[in-house]
Amino acid sequence: MPSLWRPTAQIVESGAYRANVEDDTPLQDSGSDTGPARRPPKWLVSAEARGGAGCPGPGVYAGTVRIDIVTIFPEFFGVLDVSLLGKARQSGLIDVAVHDLRDFTHDRHRTVDDTPYGGGPGMVMRPEPWGEALDAVLASERMPGAGTLASAAMPAPSHERMPGAGDPVVVFPSPAGTPFTQATAAELAQEQHLVFACGRYEGIDQRVVEYAATRGRVREISLGDYVLNGGEVAAMAMVEAITRLVPGMIGNPDSLDEESHEGGLLEYPSYTKPAEWRGLEVPPVLLSGNHAAIAAWRRDQQLERTRRVRPDLLPE
Ligand code: ADE
Repeated sequence: MPSLWRPTAQIVESGAYRANVEDDTPLQDSGSDTGPARRPPKWLVSAEARGGAGCPGPGVYAGTVRIDIVTIFPEFFGVLDVSLLGKARQSGLIDVAVHDLRDFTHDRHRTVDDTPYGGGPGMVMRPEPWGEALDAVLASERMPGAGTLASAAMPAPSHERMPGAGDPVVVFPSPAGTPFTQATAAELAQEQHLVFACGRYEGIDQRVVEYAATRGRVREISLGDYVLNGGEVAAMAMVEAITRLVPGMIGNPDSLDEESHEGGLLEYPSYTKPAEWRGLEVPPVLLSGNHAAIAAWRRDQQLERTRRVRPDLLPE
């Protein structure tokens, strides 16, 4: 079966959601045309490990932010293992699993796209693998207010029960979405379960978005007014911006209050030792020890910088 990765065990790492840790055996050539076989990264969840589509995994306890990412390019998300986010995953604050959309196909070529109805250039992602992938990642959801996992009891999609607070948020990164801002990041950092559905080509069949809205709270979100080749880079940026706002992620939470976009202004410039470097001096007020003067200087810098670089952020 053509496959980029052939993971052999579930690899979600943290806390209650932890299952078998990956084995270390190198993979055999998968027979795909994508080059020599590579080892699956630690965070890639295989369909086998999950027990097949629809098989619920163990739930995530309150306090852990669960993030599922569905993509045809799981290797994009290797960066999740480094830096702060990697540490948060190890500590159990954040539980990220990446799922290969092609694991939810059933044909020999693991097809995920087809030509658009109505004609036009490019290809559109077919709904069937997306439906199965979303069912699988949403299947182990805790129902709001219930102490148990919903798993098999998850209601069939219907209009009887509309998703509401406490249900997972399904994010479709899209240049046609609403702009992603610091406020969006702060809002999503409050959620217990985020699912990122990363489209490629000309996008995902719109019925997938409609279907997702029967199982979770859908957000179509754009990283900015430009077009990327797919949702992966946008999802990665959003995951980083969101997870750093999760309580416990940043050692000194005060630093969050002072950075750009908190309070609607850009951040003031920062300096460290030495006080003079290559003939350039640190502004004397920062060496004065006068806290009120320093605070006033920083505020002026924020206003001046925002006015110069991002006047659109200031009130009329
Ligand atoms: N996919 C392609 N372009 C995008 C963008 N600007 N934001 C989010 N997802 C995208």
